[in-house]
Amino acid sequence: MTADSRRSSRSTLLLAVTLALGAVLLATLVVVTASGHGRSTGPSVAGSATPSPPAPTPERDRLRDLMPPGVRIGTAIDGRALSLDSTYRDVLATEFDTVTAENAMKWRNLEPSEGVYAWVGADQLIDFAQRSRQSVYGHTLVWHNDVPQWVSPDWSPERLRAVLRAHVTAVVSHYRDRVWAWDVVNEALDEDGTLRDTLWLRKLGPGYIADAFRWAHAADPSARLFINDYGTEERSRKSDALLKLVRDLRAQGVPVDGVGFQAHLESARRPAGLAANLRRFAALGVSVAITELDVRVKLPAGPAQLRQQAAVYRDVLAACLSVPACVSLTVWGFTDARSWIPGYHRGYGAACLLDAQYRPKPAHTAMIELLGTRRPRGPGA
Ligand code: G3I
Repeated sequence: MTADSRRSSRSTLLLAVTLALGAVLLATLVVVTASGHGRSTGPSVAGSATPSPPAPTPERDRLRDLMPPGVRIGTAIDGRALSLDSTYRDVLATEFDTVTAENAMKWRNLEPSEGVYAWVGADQLIDFAQRSRQSVYGHTLVWHNDVPQWVSPDWSPERLRAVLRAHVTAVVSHYRDRVWAWDVVNEALDEDGTLRDTLWLRKLGPGYIADAFRWAHAADPSARLFINDYGTEERSRKSDALLKLVRDLRAQGVPVDGVGFQAHLESARRPAGLAANLRRFAALGVSVAITELDVRVKLPAGPAQLRQQAAVYRDVLAACLSVPACVSLTVWGFTDARSWIPGYHRGYGAACLLDAQYRPKPAHTAMIELLGTRRPRGPGA
């Protein structure tokens, strides 16, 4: 047998042995995977004795995983809690897919002196949201509250209009393509449905509303632009007035894309007419959104009140889900540890979905149960 033939038979033998080994390894892999109940936890090491760890099952259902496609679930973010409280951050990131700054984007916080912007607080919120795969709802550009002190009511209408325009343009431009929707004008109506007597109405006339929408649209044509108010959730003089205002603005070609209903509600009263009211606004061709939902309870909050509260939260979610134009439901804080209610509504509190220890309350369970039958939205939805 020549040297060459000896070499080729050796390499044939080597090839045969390698192929045999490969076949054995493949067979082992198939066996191991088959014993894993179809859970793909990524590649596992061949021949390893210990089965791969089961996928972490969430200790409880999360709202953002159960919302139907096209309907966002959100919360207002308390800036201090975001920076100081890791549990707050964890729950926030896993429960909600859209967020609103409770205070960080208000005029007096963003522009503490004329032309000088303090973006840090709001930028941090946006960065957190992007890392948590959340969209951001901007709150708010034009409001009668939180106007910085440097804005003088004695200024001429031209000067006031110029600073208002500069503010709307600067803020919307800074957050262009990072904010999906803006509360352009907040609480423009008084309880009787007339335009609220504000610095803007007194000095600029009713046209300030249309101007603000046009300025915001010019600064970010892709952002959805909302007019937001409270006490308009069901048919009322104020809700009728808002419907007329939106119809008139759109008839003038003003880019009003949506109407926000704050929904600061009380546990003792179920919002029976909400769905019908959302539908009549939707018929104007706008989106509707629940923007600041909380359900305050007369303290002490006993099991009966918490059941009542759960029914109200469930009603609001059901109403939103029943109206295709309802694009998001945002709660105004998600834990009783961080809520504006006790400070503003004496004797009331416990208004949120989770208690002060971040434990789900009957309200959270009621929303999860209502969503339970719907198609789950997996990660990356
Ligand atoms: O951050 C300052 C702190 O430095 C200071 O020591 C403290 C004492 O004065 O004030 C703190 O600012 C407070 C801020 O909340 C943060 O806690 C403001 O005084 C207080 O006015 C502000 O209240 C907010 C209120 O809007 C007015 O902007 C509430 O948190 C917020 O929940 C509430 O939200 C409004 C929506 O924007 C519009 N719809 C109604 C809703 C409830 O009123």
